[in-house]
Amino acid sequence: MIYKGLLKHQQKDLSPFHTPGHKNSGFMPDDLIRLDYTELPDTDALYEAEGIIYQTELKLSELFGTKRTIISSGGCTLAIQTMLGLARRRGKKILFARNIHRSAVNACALLDIDPVWIMPRSDSGFFTGRITPDDARATFERNRDAIALYITSPDYYGEISDIPALSRICREYNAVLLVDNAHGSHLAFGSENLHPISLGADMSACSLHKTLPVLTGGAVLNIADEISTLQAKQVMAVFGSTSPSYPIMASIDICCDYLINKNGKMAYSELEKRVSVIKRLAEERGLIMPGGLCDPLRICINTSQAGLASENQIIYFHKHKIEPEFCDGENAVFICTPFNTELDFQRLEKAVSGLNGNLEDKASVIEKLPQVLCSPREAVLSESERLSVKESLGRIAAESACPCPPGVPVVMPGELIDENLLKKMICSGIRDIICIKQKNSVLYNC
Ligand SMILES: Cc1ncc(COP(=O)(O)O)c(C=O)c1O
Repeated sequence: MIYKGLLKHQQKDLSPFHTPGHKNSGFMPDDLIRLDYTELPDTDALYEAEGIIYQTELKLSELFGTKRTIISSGGCTLAIQTMLGLARRRGKKILFARNIHRSAVNACALLDIDPVWIMPRSDSGFFTGRITPDDARATFERNRDAIALYITSPDYYGEISDIPALSRICREYNAVLLVDNAHGSHLAFGSENLHPISLGADMSACSLHKTLPVLTGGAVLNIADEISTLQAKQVMAVFGSTSPSYPIMASIDICCDYLINKNGKMAYSELEKRVSVIKRLAEERGLIMPGGLCDPLRICINTSQAGLASENQIIYFHKHKIEPEFCDGENAVFICTPFNTELDFQRLEKAVSGLNGNLEDKASVIEKLPQVLCSPREAVLSESERLSVKESLGRIAAESACPCPPGVPVVMPGELIDENLLKKMICSGIRDIICIKQKNSVLYNC
């Protein structure tokens, strides 16, 4: 079923503005699947790398300008678990932007981390927004024992945070800056180096497969901070499969060769011009896109302001033979890489040309943080039951409830479900949620 289903999808010949970065373009050598090996004397071992895997990690470290870069074949999820596992050794309390991916929330439950949430602010009132340096500083002031700040940058919509400022604040409070850079591996190779490590982050988890030509599952943990490098492999081995995939790891090596020896870096930086033509066109048509510093290779358009919302979004783009990365009912996200063809960009241009924005401002409001009644670990490990969204009012969530993509939870485990969260779940199309089993039938007051 899976094999035939994928072939059927392929025959539709849609322009792929989604992950993986190689866009199924034939970039990967045909013999990759015949290199599905295991740990042998010749093939090295991921968690004790000292041979061919270690050599590739050294190349990656040079490419990203790190003290140490380690490979994950378990996606960015494994890199995030490792990053948080390393930080956890310094303490339990970590500040988190409340637009993190669910993989980080799950890692908090596994590692018994106490998250202190900071609400991002959005200038336009659209998209998720960023953590401001002022909010980060104020939260550190109230939480002097916090050992790290964790953010997603760029986020799903391409918004890049003020990493230099956040990094300076972290240093003032003797904390480290951890960045989920799942969507921004390519930022090291643009006309300006916008990779979190070069902007001042201490560690970054990067899904190579999302924007670079790497097989799905290929990721890295980039480490700038000397201390963490020593234990990184040990921590990754706690969470990772004992059978890491060699084809995935080999694809990372092939990607390094492309970037270093085959003008790959130039292809990424030159693509910015082509993408900026489409962004300009969208602007001219009055369409709303994220503001401030953004990923130059990601196009995100608020189509609802142009009268294209809900399921009509995907119908419209499919009519133009385009598969977006993601439509959330209001915004559509397109991931561009050098493995998209000129035909892909022409189709996208045509689709954008057919939209007319209505530049009405939306008031930007900073939302209140939901009430937290227990830690993610307590919530996830407690006795629980699945409830319809309506039944969940007044209950404590035992899981992160989110539409995926983007995988950013509307409700975090441990949060009290109040009217506001209930409304948001309904708007996000969430139908049910696992909640902590009620004791003495007492509903929490919300
Ligand atoms: C922001 C963010 N972080 C982490 C992840 C997890 O990455 P992976 O799928 O490579 O495990 C994703 C996946 O979509 C993501 O969007």
